[in-house]
Amino acid sequence: MSDRYLGFANSTLGRKLVDALGLPRPVPLERWQAGRLRPIEGALVLGGGPLASQVAAIAPRLTADCYGFDAEALDAPAWVAGLGPKIKAVVFDASRLSDSDALKQLHEFFQPLLRSLAPSAHVVILGRAPESLDDAQASVAQRALEGFSRSLAKELRNGATANLLYVGDGTEDQLEGALRFFLSPKSAFVSGQVLRLSACAAQVEDWTRPLAGRHALVTGAARGIGAAIAETLARDGAEVTLLDVPQAQRDLDALAARLGGRALALDICAADAAAQLLEALPQGLDILVHNAGITRDKTLANMTPEYWDAVLAVNLKAPQVLTQALFEGGKLQRDARITLLASVSGIAGNRGQSNYAASKAGLIGFAQAWAPRLAAQGASINAVAPGFIETHMTAAMPMGLREAGRRLSSLGQGGLPQDVAEAIAWLSQPGSGAVNGQALRVCGQALMGA
Ligand SMILES: NC(=O)c1ccc[n+]([C@@H]2O[C@H](COP(=O)([O-])OP(=O)(O)OC[C@H]3O[C@@H](n4cnc5c(N)ncnc54)[C@H](O)[C@@H]3O)[C@@H](O)[C@H]2O)c1
Repeated sequence: MSDRYLGFANSTLGRKLVDALGLPRPVPLERWQAGRLRPIEGALVLGGGPLASQVAAIAPRLTADCYGFDAEALDAPAWVAGLGPKIKAVVFDASRLSDSDALKQLHEFFQPLLRSLAPSAHVVILGRAPESLDDAQASVAQRALEGFSRSLAKELRNGATANLLYVGDGTEDQLEGALRFFLSPKSAFVSGQVLRLSACAAQVEDWTRPLAGRHALVTGAARGIGAAIAETLARDGAEVTLLDVPQAQRDLDALAARLGGRALALDICAADAAAQLLEALPQGLDILVHNAGITRDKTLANMTPEYWDAVLAVNLKAPQVLTQALFEGGKLQRDARITLLASVSGIAGNRGQSNYAASKAGLIGFAQAWAPRLAAQGASINAVAPGFIETHMTAAMPMGLREAGRRLSSLGQGGLPQDVAEAIAWLSQPGSGAVNGQALRVCGQALMGA
């Protein structure tokens, strides 16, 4: 379903009216287009501590235009406030801020830059995970970065985003993959998020096809977010198997044929689903995306047991049963990447969705519970929690709720299936084992549960 308000607010007449009435004016977000080569098309400004020099070393692969601002020993031309070009991407290394006085450097760095950001600019702040630091003052300062980056994300305009990455020791090789995502239009709808990166042995070999040679299974792939995930994984070089219910066979076959993949018509709740899946995947899996999901919304007082059972069975039980069977059946490659489609409802709770929110929160718990076991063999499991995404599922919502879902976020609009798919494609890369047991929201910094 198209967002008519977004189109209207950006028309000549609509812009005047919306501005005169003081209404929010969301802007169309820049998305990744097929054939694009560089993550950043425009100026990248680097600043802060020693990690900025590491980013400077990979910067020529990210953009043709890199500047330093107040950065230590950077071999890059200086960006000067009022004179420099518009900025498309910013990386500030805050990892050395070691007490509350040092936090002033955030103000000194960002304040002069903010009026020079280009539309859909992307800001990344780098820090050290507070729990990894022995020094209490440094830990406090690093924890403060969360409040700063989330507030900055709320203040940015024109489709810009800000995110915080806590970088562990030995993660230098994983920084490029993360920055290729967070500084490019691939993260158009990800803002105000905090992720932790840890060391990971595997690496991407070819950035034009980061998933080449990897075999992926996507459930619920006939339409909506699942179809976009399958397309994006295939774009990045993966061989894809698309699974959906037998009733969706026609759409499934058509998409599988277009992507050169395989269709598998199977209800993930069927009693023999695990056995069928094992048989259908003789070569095993490198990438597993549990995307199939349903809603049966009612307030708890009005909810039938059937509604409760159906949602828990599809959304939570089937992913557990199938993952366990694939794991025990030796079908998950040692460095497999698993992603579970959670939801912001599972983080914040949502009226009328106690069954759905329980299932989605359970998936986040699933990622957390399995992460250590999988890390031991080089594999990883994460949850992606979409906010409001324009699909059949959200088109079926009552109009008032739908409008609220779109507007009550920092970016003031719903996301597209592609936005969720890009996050999953990044988490599915070999080097993304750096992220494990975490929940990444793709929600335009929805106010719900923020
Ligand atoms: N759309 C949103 O705003 C949004 C927000 C948060 C989370 N999500 C989650 O993202 C995922 C995809 O959502 P969507 O909006 O694309 O939904 P959708 O309804 O458009 O697609 C879901 C797909 O899952 C398939 N499916 C359902 N039950 C199945 C079963 N038993 N076996 C196999 N396939 C089954 C359906 O046939 C369908 O093709 C879901 O898990 C959903 O909960 C969506």
